[in-house]
Parts: sequence; C-alpha cells; structure tokens
Amino acid sequence: MKKNILVVLGGQSGEHEVSLMSALSVLKAVDEKKYGIVPVGISKQGTWKFFDEPLNTLREKSWQELRDYLEKEEEQDLSLRTNTQKDPKGQLVLWNQHRKEAIDLVFPVLHGPLGEDGTIQGMCEMLNVPYVGAGVLASSVAMDKAMTKNIVSTLGILQAEYHLVLKEEYQKNEKERERQKQLIEKRFSYPVFIKPANLGSSVGITKAHNAQELLEGIDLALSFDRKVLVEEFIDAREIECGILGNYSPKASLPSEIIPHNEFYDYRDKYFDGKSQFVIPAKLTKEQREKIQDQGKRIFKAMGCTGLARIDFFVEKTTGAIYFNEINTMPGFTKISMYPKMWEATGIAYEALIEELIELGFRRFHKNEG
Ligand SMILES: Nc1ncnc2c1ncn2[C@@H]1O[C@H](COP(=O)(O)OP(=O)(O)O)[C@@H](O)[C@H]1O
Ligand SMILES: [Mg+2]
Repeated sequence: MKKNILVVLGGQSGEHEVSLMSALSVLKAVDEKKYGIVPVGISKQGTWKFFDEPLNTLREKSWQELRDYLEKEEEQDLSLRTNTQKDPKGQLVLWNQHRKEAIDLVFPVLHGPLGEDGTIQGMCEMLNVPYVGAGVLASSVAMDKAMTKNIVSTLGILQAEYHLVLKEEYQKNEKERERQKQLIEKRFSYPVFIKPANLGSSVGITKAHNAQELLEGIDLALSFDRKVLVEEFIDAREIECGILGNYSPKASLPSEIIPHNEFYDYRDKYFDGKSQFVIPAKLTKEQREKIQDQGKRIFKAMGCTGLARIDFFVEKTTGAIYFNEINTMPGFTKISMYPKMWEATGIAYEALIEELIELGFRRFHKNEG
C-alpha cells in the first residue's frame, strides 16, 4: 500500500510566498507511484485547507494562484486527530465535510516562524506522526540566531560578534537607547548588520552605515521580533553547505552566492534573482573540507535531523571561515541552493526528496541513518 505524505505549504510567517514556491517544486517531484500526496495549505491567517483539484492540475498552478486560493475566506473546518483505529491507514487523520485523509508522514515545506521553528514539529510529535526534517528542539534553536550562536560558540567555530537588543529594555526610554547605541559604536565600527533573531529570508535586515541607519534598523528589526542582533560586518564571500542525514550526516559540495545588491536581501533572493550562484564554490580543498566538517559538527551539535543548509562567510582578506546561520528548512525550489548543491554532489532533486522522506520515517522508527 502506498504511504500517504502530507505536504504542508504556505504558513503564517513572512516567508509564506517562499514556502509556496518551494512546495510547488516538491509537489512536482514527489514520486506519485510510490506515495499518495495530500497537499494542505495554511493561509497567512492560519487557516488550514485542502486543495480540491487533482495533483496534476495543482502542479501547474503558479505560487500566486495558490496564495490567492489560501486567502479566500470560506468555511473549511479542517480537523486533525490521531488515528486511533488505524483505519484505513496512517497515523494521522485530516478531514472536513467532504474529505478524509489518513497520513503516514508530514512534510512541512514551511519556512520561518510557525513552521520551521519547532511548532509544527511539536504538533507532529503530539499526533505521533513521522515528519521530514529537524525535531522540536533543533528547529526552535535554529530559528533563533542568538541561541544558535550560543551553541556554535561551544564548538570553537568563528562567528560574527554581536550585541543583543531586547525590545523591553531598549524601548524603556531615550537614555537606554542612547546607552545601547554607544555600546554598539564602541564595540564595532560601521557598517553593522541588524537582524531580527527569529526571521529568515533577509526580512527586517539592515546594513547600517551610520548612527541614523543603526537606529532606524533597530526599530525596523524590533517591529518583527522582540530580540534583535547587531552584528559586526564581515567582509566576506558567502558560502553555503548542504547537510543531509540523521545522526551520521553527510555534507554537500559548498556553493557560493555573489549578491547583486549590497547584501543578499529578500527581493534579490526571491524576485529579482540577479545574484549569482557558483556551484560548486571555488575553494581550496582545505577550505572545502573545513566547511564541510564544520557544517556536520554544527548539524550534530544542534541536534538536527534530515536536512539543513549551513551558511558561512569566508573572509576576503584572511580566508578565515565564519559560521553565519543555519536553516533547517532551507528554500527548496528546484533552483534553490540546497537542492542545487546536492545535485552537484550527485543527488538529483527527486532522489533528495525521496531520501528526506526515508530519513523522516527512519528517525520516527528510531533507526540510525
Ligand atoms: N555579519 C555580517 N557581515 C556581512 N554580511 C552579512 C552579515 N550578516 C548578514 N549579512 C548579509 O545579509 C544576508 C542575510 O543575513 P542572514 O544572517 O543570512 O539572514 P537570513 O536568515 O535572513 O538569511 C547575508 O546573506 C549576507 O549577505
Ligand atoms: Mg541567510
């Protein structure tokens, strides 16, 4: 009997659109002969919906069409429960007035908060259903750039120094704002990077070249998250590495992003697409191996499973390797870096999806892998 895979797409984060793009690629690539595919969308407001058309029709839609469908208000009443009767199959049952589906594994193709951050993973744990990717702890720690830095610092891997801004403290009064500004200016010279701790896809990120941009950047970042990092600028090449596996993970060939704009921002990532990708990246053997080794060590230290894309900086003047960030559900369109790196390493997109599904089952059944 075919296993039923629930592909969850959209979601409530700022990366809703990115998720739709990723999920369309996934839907096109999952092997229908092997799996039953049940796509379910989550609107930006958090409503869960089945898609009524057959998979083949859905695959031909644009991400904008999927978004519009998810935004349409209508009664759907999608319910979920664990399948206590184990009937007809699957450990999770989803249903509404018109339809009922039993699910064997969840593939949350969701990026950002309420998707990549341990929340849907926790729901899967409660429902006792296998799922693709990192578990609750790894997902939530990886979602928080400051928490991640704390873990990575125990490995003796270089990272950009940062100053943490907490909304409640920073916004207390003008004096506190001025104090923190001075602290930052004493510690770092401009430019600095300002980032919300808990987003992704460059949302809310500023490169500040002076005090005014710093203050504006902090306000912008605080509008997305109560926790903000102000980081020293690393003048570096941007190198990414794909990690795949559970407890003995493997590393892909690293790749390089050459941003078109001043930094790799949201528009450039998903809409303008003017950045260049070099796959595999031109690195010395020593640099490549160091990045792959650090990537695997970070993956393990974070307790990741399934997949992660780990991003590094290679400093231009010194060649030093800095860890930048980790994504436990990286962009997954056919042209996204993570799948592209695996393709260059010898695993095609379709096979990659297959392996991720297998890893999800193996993790659930406590098999090594
Ligand atoms: N400390 C830094 N020094 C130099 N460039 C940075 C730094 N931090 C971020 N950037 C630039 O900003 C981009 C987005 O930052 P990143 O931390 O990767 O956030 P996101 O999770 O949104 O991808 C990076 O790809 C890089 O171009
Ligand atoms: Mg990034």
